[in-house]
Amino acid sequence: MNKADIGVIGMEVMGKNLALNMESRGYTVAVFNRTEQKTRDFAEGPARGKKFIPAYDLKDFVASLSSPRKIMLMVKEGTPVDGFIEKLIPLLNKGDLIIDGGNSFFKDTIRRNEELGPKGILFIGTGVSGGEEGALKGPAIMPGGQKEAYQLVEKILTDISAKADDGAPCVTYIGPGAAGHFVKTTHNGIEYGDMQLIGECAWFFKNALGMSAGETADIIAKWNGGSDILRSYLIEITADSMKEKNKNAPGYIVDIIADITRMKGTGTWTVQSALELLVPIPTIASAVFSREMSQDKDLRLKMSGILKPGSESVPSGERSQLVDIAHDALYIAKISSYAQGLALLQAASREYKFDLNLGQIAKIWRGGCIIRAQFLDEISKAYEENPALPNLLAAPKFSEFVNKNLWKLAKFIEIAHKSGVSALGMASSYDYIMQIASPVMVSAQVAALQRDYFGAHGYFKIGGTKDPAVVKNAQGKMTEFHTDWMIEGRPEKEITK
Ligand code: 6PG
Repeated sequence: MNKADIGVIGMEVMGKNLALNMESRGYTVAVFNRTEQKTRDFAEGPARGKKFIPAYDLKDFVASLSSPRKIMLMVKEGTPVDGFIEKLIPLLNKGDLIIDGGNSFFKDTIRRNEELGPKGILFIGTGVSGGEEGALKGPAIMPGGQKEAYQLVEKILTDISAKADDGAPCVTYIGPGAAGHFVKTTHNGIEYGDMQLIGECAWFFKNALGMSAGETADIIAKWNGGSDILRSYLIEITADSMKEKNKNAPGYIVDIIADITRMKGTGTWTVQSALELLVPIPTIASAVFSREMSQDKDLRLKMSGILKPGSESVPSGERSQLVDIAHDALYIAKISSYAQGLALLQAASREYKFDLNLGQIAKIWRGGCIIRAQFLDEISKAYEENPALPNLLAAPKFSEFVNKNLWKLAKFIEIAHKSGVSALGMASSYDYIMQIASPVMVSAQVAALQRDYFGAHGYFKIGGTKDPAVVKNAQGKMTEFHTDWMIEGRPEKEITK
């Protein structure tokens, strides 16, 4: 019997579709699932007559693979991944490869790499984005691990990946260790941000501009047209789903969907990582916080009877201008959100030695994944032109647009708030720009002063009101001072060690 080129463990929808995708590109694929019946259903269903080797025992599964064996785990992150790795170890030889294709926490991936490395078993943690359809027709793939491990599956992953409009495959070697899973988690954080910002536009259209879901869908559909800067998969599916009518009563389905957004964890991990790495990602955090607030429906129902935020309505003559303003406001908010996500990747790359290439990452996100968008082409070009960009917002293409149109984001937030519409994501994006563009953050000056006053925590100094740079000593170290607030005359002393 011919041996399989690769094996897939986990016959839930993502595993099945990925296996079908591999087979459709000419590979023989071994499949296994913990519950036998699922493998049987697959073998007798979509796999029938195709180049699959179904196995009902893990030993047979491993034995059916050509060497070095390549096994892709498509099971739930956490314990199931560890469980399968543990069972596979005694069945594998040095040089065999396990690929975890789930949304695993990157620190689990670091640990697994450390456990498998000394045993000579190669390990890849990879992001696979694009949902069910992507898995079947071509996802964006973000593999991280040993370079030689990637080389073993480079051809398969390239063959099954999505292709961007210019034909480039949406896969690249992301970096060592947990680089792939870190990048996928951040992709999801950015996805949360996009969803939040689009959702705030829909809320704005409904409550500030008095539009129906159908009217909103028509506007958002236009934003997906031709070369529109907002053109993207999430814009496309928002328009398509918002125009859907309610099946049992007049109106649109979106109006009877409960305002509760659940989440599986990747958005929260993104924010946790940002907190650990000291990288501000307020838009992404606002998306996570908004999902949390959405889940406390009972509290909101109670509080809505007590608090009465703005309820001004916009004169109908101003509506069409505000629709245009919302378009550019959303674009700027999105640039800001991506700038935050990419800054997180940059910091993680330094801290964990991922050696990330942001231009390449933006390039593979252009197709297949949930955040795929025209706009990523511009991001990728910006990093190609200047790989040392201090922040995405420094790229002339984006800074020029922001400088010219930032007032529109301010206007959007102002009208939203007056109309009782929350704009937490939009405002977070706006304020990220405000803060990053501040040579002097007065709030930080005051907080530094307060800390020194109540806790003798010390402070640094700037050159003066006209020289915002921090004063450094001869060794290039920031000079630290403390004022003795409780002593007469409040003497100041240098405390740099
Ligand atoms: C993707 C998606 C995918 C999944 C999210 C949903 O890239 O294909 O991001 O990974 O749909 O995990 O996440 P939440 O359940 O947290 O919204």
